[in-house]
Amino acid sequence: MLITSLDEMHRWSENMRLASKTIGVVPTMGYLHDGHRSLIEQAASECDVVVTTVFVNPLQFSAGEDYERYPRDLERDRALAHAAGTTILFVPSPQEMYPRGFTTTIDVGPLGERFEGAFRPGHFRGVATVVAKLFNVTKPHIAYFGQKDYQQTLVISQLIRDLNYNITLRVLPTVRERDGLAMSSRNVYLSPTERSDATVLYRALHAALDAIAQGERVREKLESLMRSVIEQIPHAHIDYAAAACAETLDQPDSFAPGQQIVLLLAVRIGTTRLIDNALTSIHYDSSSM
Ligand code: PAJ
Repeated sequence: MLITSLDEMHRWSENMRLASKTIGVVPTMGYLHDGHRSLIEQAASECDVVVTTVFVNPLQFSAGEDYERYPRDLERDRALAHAAGTTILFVPSPQEMYPRGFTTTIDVGPLGERFEGAFRPGHFRGVATVVAKLFNVTKPHIAYFGQKDYQQTLVISQLIRDLNYNITLRVLPTVRERDGLAMSSRNVYLSPTERSDATVLYRALHAALDAIAQGERVREKLESLMRSVIEQIPHAHIDYAAAACAETLDQPDSFAPGQQIVLLLAVRIGTTRLIDNALTSIHYDSSSM
């Protein structure tokens, strides 16, 4: 079922709560792919009802970014979302989400200012604000997010903690194409040559994961290793290639045994900006991407 009005969404989720149903929410910007599908399927397996939201949030795009041309295909999204186990597809309008006179936003603090936040000022303010609004109207017990947007999951976790949302956050692994490219709605922007160049993010992450498994602990070495792999692609421009503490995103000179590390990449291939990441810990050779 499709809901577009905020009032109707409020009423529906309130009724589900009164009927003691467990509500799962999967916030998205649409143009759904298998990464979104895995979140919806997991939600359907754990919750009585699943609300998938589709909203291209203007507040998280800066001037000059791709808000206008962000891919949209509601009919396709409807079919995919429902086949994966969505109960309600919630598609609010920008006018209702941000009516004239809207001024309140949520600033998550320093976490929102590094990496993605540094290259996209105001981005996480936009994300935190829209996610808080979506939580308020969908009233979920469990919210599903992808590791693909690693920093975003930390921001949401901070939001939930700081504003006392009684919501469990589930973070699911990044779903990839066969050649390792992380699935993304933005991959449709890539030309065939760029599409094959785009696997360089995955290769760079693996080079660093291998180095960590072989005992490398020095942050600069890991970062320059990732950079050197990416620089082999002529039209790749690195926004950042970083190794950081997985929980805080702090960047010590070297990592201690037992520490959880996240490798974070943002790379522009032509005009398309791609992000990817990998998690590992320093003294096991296990890793997850
Ligand atoms: P969007 O990019 O549509 O992503 C929606 C959710 O799908 C996010 O939690 C994202 O991490 C997850 N996702 C995207 N690609 C994935 C992949 N390859 N594997 C696993 N999960 C993946 O992220 C947003 O939208 C927005 O910022 C939003 C949270 C909806 C707020 O506007």
